[in-house]
Amino acid sequence: MNQQVFQDAMNAVSARRVRAKAENERRYQEINDKIPALAEVNYQLAQTAARILAGEDIETVKRQNLQAQRYAAQLLENHGYPADYLDMHYTCEKCQDTGFFEGRYCSCLEKLISAFSIEHINQTTKLQLKSFEQFSLEYYKGIIKQNDKKQNVNCYEKMAENLNFCRQYASNFSTHSPSLLFYGRAGVGKTHLSLSIVTEVLSQGYQVIYDSVCDLFSRIEQEHFQHDKSADTLENVLNAELLVLDDLGTEFQTTFTDSVVYNIINTRINRNLPTIITANMSSDAMAEMYSPRIVSRLFAVYRPMQFIGEDIRMMKKKQNAGSQYL
Ligand SMILES: Nc1ncnc2c1ncn2[C@@H]1O[C@H](COP(=O)(O)OP(=O)(O)O)[C@@H](O)[C@H]1O
Ligand SMILES: [Mg+2]
Ligand SMILES: [Zn+2]
Repeated sequence: MNQQVFQDAMNAVSARRVRAKAENERRYQEINDKIPALAEVNYQLAQTAARILAGEDIETVKRQNLQAQRYAAQLLENHGYPADYLDMHYTCEKCQDTGFFEGRYCSCLEKLISAFSIEHINQTTKLQLKSFEQFSLEYYKGIIKQNDKKQNVNCYEKMAENLNFCRQYASNFSTHSPSLLFYGRAGVGKTHLSLSIVTEVLSQGYQVIYDSVCDLFSRIEQEHFQHDKSADTLENVLNAELLVLDDLGTEFQTTFTDSVVYNIINTRINRNLPTIITANMSSDAMAEMYSPRIVSRLFAVYRPMQFIGEDIRMMKKKQNAGSQYL
């Protein structure tokens, strides 16, 4: 695990503990001001240890304490407060915001570590958030192209369908959502729509990893061959609640990268976690490039979606070039 990530997670846990303590002190202050009788009872309760040390009969002290506690709870309720108002309220009752439970990392600390690892990865990738609102169907109007099956397709209708599906997918996202495969030529909006989904799903609080296959694989490769135990990009990629692998097919293909592609696809299918893969190629090209065990999973388990149209990057360039002369 990355040392910085662990430190950040521990800092977050201790910030919670400090906050719980401060809130508890604030409540005591409030109650002392509002209910003087209770302040008196609390003062008595605070003397318990001192009384026992001073040699008072333990059973008597205990009995009086119990009565005092009941009286305190009654006083609180009489003044409209819940009986546990003065108890400590931790974010995680299990470990009382220490991060450790029964000698191990508490689940709350593990959650924080995983959230911070993903944040750490996203800070170092080129994650650039896009939105559905910035996605215009104008670029596909009046364009007819052949799809995979050599049928003529109205690009506007096909892309309207894709856009609509992606919006629904993002707003109904759960960790059991299906995996998607966006394929088609470059510049038709695959990355744009996948990032629109990422934006929406991140805003719902899910842990999302987005990266281009090239960058991600070179990092995984480096960590693998340097035996870097402090970094665990692959582990995070296998566990993220949503993984977006952009530009499959642009990696420099080796047996290592192929085994990573297979591992990611297969493990995430087995864990039932959603993945979105984009690829700038036809389904035939993909079948040629990857082994049947990869292709069969991509086309059978993922929902394949063809993106179709003209290269929007080029269209925008032409528009901008033209507008200089207006
Ligand atoms: N429908 C669209 N409306 C507006 N801009 C788009 C649309 N589709 C793509 N773009 C823009 O065109 C460029 C190329 O699109 P991108 O999504 O990267 O294509 P792909 O991933 O299919 O190669 C990006 O700057 C993107 O924001
Ligand atoms: Mg792209
Ligand atoms: Zn905990």
